[in-house]
Amino acid sequence: MQILRPDNLKEEPLILGIESSCDETAAAVIRGRRLLSDEIASSANIQALYGGVVPEIASRAHTDAVDLVVDRALKTAGVKKEQLDAVAVTYGAGLLGALLVGLSFAKGLAYGLHIPFIGVNHIRGHLSAAYLEDETLRPPFMTLLASGGHTAVIYTKSFSEFEVLGGTLDDAAGEAFDKVARVLGLPYPGGPHIEALAREGKPVVHMPKMLKGEGGYNFSYSGLKTAVINYCHTMEQRGEAWSKADVAASFQSAALDILVQKTVEGALEKGVTTVTAGGGVVANGYLREKLTEACMAHGLKLVLPVKKHCTDNAAMIAAEGLIRYEAGDFSPLSLNAAASIPLR
Ligand code: KG4
Ligand code: ZN
Repeated sequence: MQILRPDNLKEEPLILGIESSCDETAAAVIRGRRLLSDEIASSANIQALYGGVVPEIASRAHTDAVDLVVDRALKTAGVKKEQLDAVAVTYGAGLLGALLVGLSFAKGLAYGLHIPFIGVNHIRGHLSAAYLEDETLRPPFMTLLASGGHTAVIYTKSFSEFEVLGGTLDDAAGEAFDKVARVLGLPYPGGPHIEALAREGKPVVHMPKMLKGEGGYNFSYSGLKTAVINYCHTMEQRGEAWSKADVAASFQSAALDILVQKTVEGALEKGVTTVTAGGGVVANGYLREKLTEACMAHGLKLVLPVKKHCTDNAAMIAAEGLIRYEAGDFSPLSLNAAASIPLR
């Protein structure tokens, strides 16, 4: 199918971003790198009752919310849809039914307005959140990506070239937080609850090493998760008093210290001077503090997206839409949703 391209690329295009890959329906408008609106509706409260995301509930919630959220994003931005220069939307990775709601809506809008359509890789969106934080940010830089589905240290060579240095060999960091939260009897999503509980505890419970191989970038969360489960069971069986807060603090520091260490190592190895981060786990206050300290200690500039732009949002999709617009890299309207896609 033919790809619609504008005759002239604008300096500061007005881009609508839409995100619906999981349980958040979000829409945002940017002009260049300036954020004009940033709206979100979530079915997380309902999903929490089930202890995780139920795909069918997510799809229905997106269908109910998508036009309202987009409408609100345009109104808050003070923009009429006819003024938009492009529509960017997540087409993967994520839940197929959920993705299709945002994708179909965005295609219809772009087709109706006769403007370019940009299908965005959700992970690339997380990487691009940092561009909104610092208007001067340009590759190369080292990025820590830590979400519910991915955890990796990524060398961003240019706006469209990436090298994954390494990352988790099993669970993603967010997934590990969610699983450990369940063991500790905390609600879904577990990350923020573990963070809150950890503030009341001390990292005194022994946790296993996570690194796989010497000096590499790969690590594993499965041993850490098993260690938490075994510790809780053993203490219960012995009838000994134990502190959930200490377990939360011990797990949190073990799970996150490795990310800080590997990200800084990556930056030093590649000789870049800037570090960025993205993904839901980067909303964690402990991680933000440790990464800030480590970057400062090594003379690295750190560009951290605000917490709202770490967890799923549409501003990051609009930001990645801008990068693609500037490269003239548009998508055909035949683009389908994809449950999983590589970085490139
Ligand atoms: O990026 P995201 O919103 O969705 C995905 O693309 O996966 O990440 C969601 C993940 C969940 O696993 C959630 O528990 C985790 O991010 N998360 C956190 C925190 N806030 C969200 N993990 C640790 N600490 C937090 N404060
Ligand atoms: Zn995400």
